[in-house]
Amino acid sequence: MKIALTYNLKKKDDAKPPDYYSEFDSEETINAIVSALTKKGHYVEAIDVDSIAVLSYFKKNKVDLVFNIAEGRKSKFRESEIPAILDYLDIPYTGSNTFSLALALNKAFTKKILKAEHIPTPSFQVFFKGNEELNPELRFPLIVKPNREGSAKGIDLSNVVKDKESLYKKVKEIIQNYQQEALVEEFIEGKELTVGILENGKITILPILEIDFSNCKKSGEYFYSWRMKEYQGNVDLGLTPIFYCPARLDSDTGTRVKEVALRTHKAVGCFDISRTDIRLSKDNIPYVLEINPLPGLNPKESNFPLMAYAAGMQYEDIIESIVTSAYLRTKEVN
Ligand SMILES: Nc1ncnc2c1ncn2[C@@H]1O[C@H](COP(=O)(O)OP(=O)(O)OP(=O)(O)O)[C@@H](O)[C@H]1O
Ligand SMILES: [Mg+2]
Repeated sequence: MKIALTYNLKKKDDAKPPDYYSEFDSEETINAIVSALTKKGHYVEAIDVDSIAVLSYFKKNKVDLVFNIAEGRKSKFRESEIPAILDYLDIPYTGSNTFSLALALNKAFTKKILKAEHIPTPSFQVFFKGNEELNPELRFPLIVKPNREGSAKGIDLSNVVKDKESLYKKVKEIIQNYQQEALVEEFIEGKELTVGILENGKITILPILEIDFSNCKKSGEYFYSWRMKEYQGNVDLGLTPIFYCPARLDSDTGTRVKEVALRTHKAVGCFDISRTDIRLSKDNIPYVLEINPLPGLNPKESNFPLMAYAAGMQYEDIIESIVTSAYLRTKEVN
């Protein structure tokens, strides 16, 4: 097949905040996907969507399929920007559609759907202005996050707040710095888990990945903050989480964790690939934090490939599975 890979390239720019480009992909990831697609016999054109006029490119160049990992630019629906153009031009693409990408990017809307589906998710409140009355039912400690970001952008230790004063300070900071509403939710103490789902005509739930931060005491960090993700493995900083895949869970808990991930994938309407982030509370409830329909695909560092490797797959198999799943969808009536 002739495949175009659409991506936003991670750049180095000291004028921007350090987490500004965190959502974007490195050359290493792009090269790995291109090489996997080429190995499987496809002809690939890699397109940095920031450097060309995407609409006119696709009007002029015919492709069979777009392999989309573009995170988009600035809009409220940034992850849907490229899929929206492709929908308009009637070009098939891999992964979730415009609707599900916009939904999953908006954590609060996703959580409303999870609640309606009786999938556990931490209790929450959205702050648009920053001076709203705090819902008295929410229990401290709370965590404050930008409502529409990923890669733990804007999330560090100071986002976990224990009183109203620090809550309002953080909420205002997030609204100001990230130019969007702040999501406040109950902080769930417990295990950090993530579950990968991969389709290719059938759905595969990959072995659960557990990220254990008990080894990171030197850093003072104890959850998957931006620093933890950005400097993962840095011994000097003490940011050395231990990955267990499969996770250290009894089989009943493992089954329940996989089940909530699958239900989340379906409830949000994801296609081909997703990664659901979960905190397993001390009383064994798998609370879904969010679903990532565009999970990181760095072959060495990202969580999703780790889970696929634990299932005995190679990197090329992940990529080809996504392509097959998207191709099969083009044969469906709706
Ligand atoms: N309610 C919570 N309770 C406990 N920890 C939380 C909670 N919300 C977020 N965290 C911690 O912060 C991390 C990042 O949060 P979250 O997954 O919501 O953000 P993100 O930016 O979308 O992440 P990603 O990098 O997966 O895109 C989580 O993996 C977890 O370690
Ligand atoms: Mg996450």
